[in-house]
Amino acid sequence: MSPTSFQVSADNRRYPGHVAIIMDGNGRWANQRGKPRTAGHLAGAKTVREIVEHARRSSVRCLTLYAFSSDNWSRPKDEVDALMRLFRRHLAAETPKCVENDIRMSVVGRRDRISPELCHAIRAAEEATIDCESLHLRLAVDYSARDTMVRAAAAAPVGSPLSRDAFAELLAEVNHDDGSAGDVDLLIRTGGEQRLSDFLLWECAYAELVFSRRMWPEFGTADFDAAVEDFRARDRRFGGLSKARMG
Ligand code: FPP
Repeated sequence: MSPTSFQVSADNRRYPGHVAIIMDGNGRWANQRGKPRTAGHLAGAKTVREIVEHARRSSVRCLTLYAFSSDNWSRPKDEVDALMRLFRRHLAAETPKCVENDIRMSVVGRRDRISPELCHAIRAAEEATIDCESLHLRLAVDYSARDTMVRAAAAAPVGSPLSRDAFAELLAEVNHDDGSAGDVDLLIRTGGEQRLSDFLLWECAYAELVFSRRMWPEFGTADFDAAVEDFRARDRRFGGLSKARMG
């Protein structure tokens, strides 16, 4: 891999460790070009590859991509089937490249409504890349933050107080996750809309939000870098006061 534009520096707390992306705009990108929506998803998969490679070269240690929300099941069956096929092929094709580039891949979300073939591809990708450390790539598939919280709450021990950390562990468990990703530092949404759409609501409590007008298939590495620069200019106070105002 070539040298990065964002090396980890002494100042690395000002770089986002965990970036999450709502990859929106595939359908509109395709429509604008007179193509079927599935062509937009195919083009979107190419952008996934570019952005993952780029994040791998940066200070980002975890990248979480919203690939399929639990509400996306309501889309036409042809589109859902095409997306599921695309995820399966992507996992199979990208696993050797991830191993080569030291990228750990995992999938968060429900597993009981996706096909056995996709489940198998997920397990194979996760097992093959389990020891990779340079970047943790998490794909959210059949994911809903609100459903996750409801299921975590239902799994909580009755009668004993529940800490934030214990609840976060339960959230991870119900999502087939190991909990290592932690809070999101920077959330990017492409496609011009400005909402969270049930994505990582707990983990984004103090995330910096960046909304891009670019459709996901045309979102490039320069756009990613611009979002990181935007993040770096923010004053993150986590409810406290900035150093300048502490006196
Ligand atoms: C939202 O755009 C996008 C999705 C629901 C699917 C995301 C999938 C990809 C980016 C494809 C590749 C992903 C992987 C992990 C291989 P939209 O279809 O809602 O766009 P619209 O708002 O313009 O209709």
